[in-house]
Amino acid sequence: MTLPERLPGPAAPAPSSASPAPSPAPASSAPAGRFARISGWGSYVPSAVLTNADLERIVDTNDEWIVSRTGIRERRVAAAHETTASMAAVAGARAIAVAGLDPDDIDLILVATLTPDYWMPSTAALVKEAIGNRRAAAMDVAAACSGFVYAYSTAYAYVTSGMARHVLVVGAELLTRFLDYTDRSTCILFGDGAGAVVVSASDEPTGPHGIELTTEPQGAYMIWLPAGGSKSPSSAETVARGEHFIRMEGKETYRFATKTLASSALAAIERAGLHPDEIDLVIPHQANVRIIEAVAKGLGFPMERIFVNVDRYGNTSAASVPLALAEAVDTGRIKVGDNVVFVAFGAGFTSGAVAMEWSVDPANGARAASIDPDAIRVRLPVDWDSVDPIPPQLADVLAAPGSVDVPLDDVVPGEPEPAHAPVR
Ligand code: ACO
Repeated sequence: MTLPERLPGPAAPAPSSASPAPSPAPASSAPAGRFARISGWGSYVPSAVLTNADLERIVDTNDEWIVSRTGIRERRVAAAHETTASMAAVAGARAIAVAGLDPDDIDLILVATLTPDYWMPSTAALVKEAIGNRRAAAMDVAAACSGFVYAYSTAYAYVTSGMARHVLVVGAELLTRFLDYTDRSTCILFGDGAGAVVVSASDEPTGPHGIELTTEPQGAYMIWLPAGGSKSPSSAETVARGEHFIRMEGKETYRFATKTLASSALAAIERAGLHPDEIDLVIPHQANVRIIEAVAKGLGFPMERIFVNVDRYGNTSAASVPLALAEAVDTGRIKVGDNVVFVAFGAGFTSGAVAMEWSVDPANGARAASIDPDAIRVRLPVDWDSVDPIPPQLADVLAAPGSVDVPLDDVVPGEPEPAHAPVR
């Protein structure tokens, strides 16, 4: 990474005058060097849809159970030629286009994922090449479903410290290849996709901003993938035991999520110097609509102030918040001057929340149309080819009538309201 020239260092952004004082010494709300804001956003989802009816043909489940317990109606499944890196690269290229930047303007690429293409190299390195960037540093961030919030906070620190001017932050997951299709309590929950933002330096104050991150390792084995690491390297035996699949204690995870999401969101709101009444939209991790409703209750918010798309994508882990964010902006749910909160929880147990004022014209989202997903390619290794990556149970279902293929660019930007405040 070539360090950009440092901009003059402004003081920390002033909290809004109507708000209570922020909590003491919040490291994340006191930029040492300059201001940061989200300048671009983008997303990508595969075209194949796996419905609850499709899953009924794989495991002993039914649409009524899945909808009433989770709110999920369908999720996306990556095609054989797609990987986490390829989805991340399309979402990232769209975010860069929306920001009005060239790929080479990006100083640092962060990819939050628990489903990397390979153990090494990092998925971020593959994304860097695929988007045509020649100068950024690139690394992955591992914090499971909280990964995007953790990666965003890393980007914020790089930008406000003056170490980077533009950071691409991607959350991308290809979870459908890590699921046990004999375990009905997990295989119905997850889907594939990617979302991204560009965090850019700003000479102008960008409004209130607060971050809260927590890690509670007593939950370490509540959601985990046992094999393939140094404790239990992959072998015929680990595969026979199904230890290459995600395992989850649903009830404990549910309890953690409902306990932590509201408290993390409130801590971030307080650190931004805001009051909960000043929050226009909360974008929670899309794991389960019952969890999201519990968060709304914990915050005392009506559901109209909470963004939900779990019904269409399921739990896309680190991709879920940026995927929801891009859809919220592109459909007019976020306007310039709105105070927005992202909040997530995940394996670890981790949780994270960001409260910020939105400062970029939502109409810029139309620039994403300049990106042709087919023109973005992740380079493959020479003299090596993978096995067929599609789980056999999915191959059968997706090949059979019943599943639907929807247009690739289905996250259609709506008609965002014009900016009601000056665009900074
Ligand atoms: N279809 C039909 N029945 C099912 C299914 C299914 N897909 N799955 C479980 N059941 C059955 C169970 O076998 C059980 O039957 P029994 O009473 O005869 O034993 C019954 O339904 C109730 O099962 P519970 O596990 O008690 O169901 P619960 O209401 O807890 O819902 C769920 C399960 C949806 C998994 C819930 O616990 C949950 O959402 N937990 C949080 C999961 C989550 O958010 N994970 C994200 C992790 S983030 C990351 O970092 C990856």
